[in-house]
Amino acid sequence: MDGIREWVGSARSVAVLTGAGISAESGIPTFRGPGGLWRTYRPEDLATPQAFSRDPKLVWEWYDWRRGLIARAQPNPGHFALAEMERRSKKFALITQNVDGLHDRAGNRNILKVHGDIWVVRCAACGRERVDERASIPELPPRCACGGIERPGVVWFGESLPADVWARAEQAAPADLFFVIGTSAVVYPAAGLVALAKSAGAKVVEINIAETPVSGLVDASLRGPAAEILPGLLDG
Ligand code: OAD
Repeated sequence: MDGIREWVGSARSVAVLTGAGISAESGIPTFRGPGGLWRTYRPEDLATPQAFSRDPKLVWEWYDWRRGLIARAQPNPGHFALAEMERRSKKFALITQNVDGLHDRAGNRNILKVHGDIWVVRCAACGRERVDERASIPELPPRCACGGIERPGVVWFGESLPADVWARAEQAAPADLFFVIGTSAVVYPAAGLVALAKSAGAKVVEINIAETPVSGLVDASLRGPAAEILPGLLDG
């Protein structure tokens, strides 16, 4: 821990990749662990463009349920520690696979949402985007002014990541210090940022309650809940 605290203090640039595990202690279910969403639901029924074309109402009901859960959740000490880390860093990027917006609410500024944002709604016909922060949308599926059906502004399986955001993530990953936090590191291309950072010479630190496929390539592994470990990295 002491060594890593020193790395945090001396790094000229810090990049962080987060996944669902950082929001676990805010009460938001992860995807693959015990109680994970993909243990109960099938991604091909709910998180693909084909599922949406087949049954937009069903897909929306699932997203609307998740919006309700997230709206009731609060950022946890892990999120707040990352906001503090950004304030103390000269150069800082927070790359997140999460769509929940809890990093924004905790106060981070330079957030790269590589899988989109559950609070953004995009017209499937004309592409117009808008922010809709209602915990529940009264009529599903919502409609755009153009008459088209709107969809959640998230990345589904089989879709490309937003190109501009992804380009910035690839630029930011080769920092002095790279944290990979609360992600199973199995979904690409996001998981590939860990190897990219490592091969560019970053010190890589993993924070996770369990081992992952990237555990073998990191410089240090901190095993435990992110909400407990992260605040400790800023002490002293
Ligand atoms: P996963 O559910 O795959 O993995 C969550 C990770 O967090 C696991 O490695 C857990 O061990 C770890 N974890 C759980 N609780 C934790 C805690 N309190 N502190 C630290 N770690 C904890 O979630 P992601 O890796 O985010 O994509 O999943 C990646 C992508 O797959 C998501 O963005 C989503 C999903 O399908 C799309 O929807 C495109």
